[in-house]
Amino acid sequence: MTTPGKGPVEGPWTARVLTIFPEMFPGPLAVSLAGQALAAGRWRLETMDMRAFARDKHGSVDDAPFGGGPGMVMRADVVEAAIEAAMDLPPPLPLVYLTPRGRRFEQDRARELAAGRGLIAICGRYEGVDERVIEQWRPEEISIGDFVLSGGEPAAMALIDACVRLLPGVLGDESSLVEESFERGLLEYPQYTRPRLWQGRAVPDVLLSGHHAQVAAWRRAEAERITRERRPDLWAQHIAVATATRPERVARHDVEESHDDH
Ligand code: ADE
Repeated sequence: MTTPGKGPVEGPWTARVLTIFPEMFPGPLAVSLAGQALAAGRWRLETMDMRAFARDKHGSVDDAPFGGGPGMVMRADVVEAAIEAAMDLPPPLPLVYLTPRGRRFEQDRARELAAGRGLIAICGRYEGVDERVIEQWRPEEISIGDFVLSGGEPAAMALIDACVRLLPGVLGDESSLVEESFERGLLEYPQYTRPRLWQGRAVPDVLLSGHHAQVAAWRRAEAERITRERRPDLWAQHIAVATATRPERVARHDVEESHDDH
């Protein structure tokens, strides 16, 4: 995008979604944090209806799989025409394909994508997309978890939401980012609010003490305990990073325990 006499203009972070169900968008992305940021122009959502790229008068975007079997496969020629149109628009954006076969989506990747200019997301339906278009365009294949959705759209929404909330100015309080799950390689510590006593359950005393250092130490210990108990994989990674960067702060029993879990 350029303005005469002003040179290139940086547009907002852009999610360009290729789908045969554009009516699913913005959906949940129009609500809450992402929705407010969308309305404020901090990011942009563009959907491209892949049906518009169909070659025949029936608007066919899919066909039966060669070799037989259930379901329908999205046609390479139609998907490619949509990809080409999406890639032709400025700015140049990385191409991702949502599929359970992809690499697991994690916070690090969300951070990297949020630091860029946006992304183009191909959403497959039915049994997926003809393999040849994947070979031809080499999109980054991303999965949001080991389960099968009926299409890539809800996965694209999850991916976009995870990126958008990391954009500058989207979260009211940026420090909540530093505190939250995964940002420090630990799961989140427990949170409490009013009332102080609820159904006989009290809020931990330390949180009412007003003693910031003790609150921070308690939260850290709880985050570590929960991570150790629930996610031995994350805990082992956390200990490995801590041992490499600040060995004097890692307790011997933590290192041994992290090995025991594997
Ligand atoms: N499409 C269908 N299931 C999916 C998943 N788990 N992740 C990403 N895309 C998908």
